[in-house]
Amino acid sequence: MNPLIINGAYSVVCFLVTLKAIPSFMSLFVDANLFGRDMNKTSKEKVPEALGVICGAIFLITMFLFIPIPFVNQSKTLSELDFNHRDFIQFIGALLAICCMVFLGFADDVLNLKWRHKLTLPTMASLPLLMVYYTNIGNTIIIVPKPLRFAIGRELDLSLLYYVYMGMLAVFCTNAINILSGINGLEAGQSVVIAISIIIHNLLELDGVVAANHVFSLYFMLPFLGTTLALLYYNWYPSKVFVGDTFCYFAGMTFAVVGILGHFSKTMILFFIPQVLNFLYSVPQIFGFIPCPRHRLPRYDAELGKVNMSYAKFKPTEIKPLGSLFLNICETFGLVRVVRNTGEDGSYIECNNLTLVNFFLKFLGPMHERTLTVLLLLFQIFCTCIAFFIRYHISTFFYD
Ligand code: UD1
Ligand code: MG
Repeated sequence: MNPLIINGAYSVVCFLVTLKAIPSFMSLFVDANLFGRDMNKTSKEKVPEALGVICGAIFLITMFLFIPIPFVNQSKTLSELDFNHRDFIQFIGALLAICCMVFLGFADDVLNLKWRHKLTLPTMASLPLLMVYYTNIGNTIIIVPKPLRFAIGRELDLSLLYYVYMGMLAVFCTNAINILSGINGLEAGQSVVIAISIIIHNLLELDGVVAANHVFSLYFMLPFLGTTLALLYYNWYPSKVFVGDTFCYFAGMTFAVVGILGHFSKTMILFFIPQVLNFLYSVPQIFGFIPCPRHRLPRYDAELGKVNMSYAKFKPTEIKPLGSLFLNICETFGLVRVVRNTGEDGSYIECNNLTLVNFFLKFLGPMHERTLTVLLLLFQIFCTCIAFFIRYHISTFFYD
């Protein structure tokens, strides 16, 4: 039987097992002090946190059970064996990187690590992946877009820079999902949309010349979708569980792994358009030009039962010149709401926390938390359509 069909069947089982496992582990997480309070609800009951570790574990077990399927009894000749070995190393290397990331993400949830660690953890976890790329593929030559070929030529060897790019991609994917968050269902929801987008892209490429790369990606994406859909079921409004940083890192690394080893990292970045926009808008707060509170999620208005923009409040001396410049430019274009001379003694500045979630609230006004999640997920789907348009139409202007 086609391994892909077996993988699909495994993915359904993966979904059902996660669906069954999450409720049975919920109280254990609370007992182990792994819980959070939903800041956008009036009831302050304990919500189990870091349930992404259950998804990660079930995903890994599914993959371990699947490993023999494409590799046993497939190779007859020595050269086929050699080819099979290379695929196998790739498979194991990918799982090692994902496994490292689940472990490090869970450490983050348990120990509440600092932001600088959040950048180093994915870098460390991506090292096995880069090593597999080096030994197995090793290609660091990129095709130059047509308009630039007159200056650079058709091909460019990025050499070490290519590995830096892949490492940064892993850091970006993991953190990008983690910072587009804070409302019920958003982290798991965006991961479902991205996973489905990647699956559609893989299916469209199945009869192309590099079909093997896309089959490899599907082997990972289908079980990932299965387990994430089950998580979303419990994380959807009103959340019975929180996904934790474990899930964000797990999801981000899985996307990075298939993008890199499946050779479609550029297309994969296109599926991250909302995350890229959220990251760019967040840069001043993430890099400390504008003070960044511990939480930037929207503020709950109990009277209205709706969520509204949240603000960062700081003294003028706390903002860096680049931060002031950013605020002034964005204020001119109406992209940020700034309140000056506020606070008890009128010496504070307030600006909305720089997230895509708050950006939506700025233009659409306060709304129910679930509506906001749905709108953000619809935006993610809209961006996927743009991504496919760029990939299959616009890219022909730039590449052969
Ligand atoms: C990231 C964001 C932070 C945001 C947080 C919440 C940056 C730089 N960091 O931090 O601004 O506030 O995620 O996702 O952008 N929570 C809810 N409702 C939800 C999801 C989470 O109230 O639907 C709260 C819970 O109290 C939960 C906590 O957020 O315990 C989890 O936050 P955590 O994932 O630890 O925050 P970070 O990833 O560090
Ligand atoms: Mg988080």
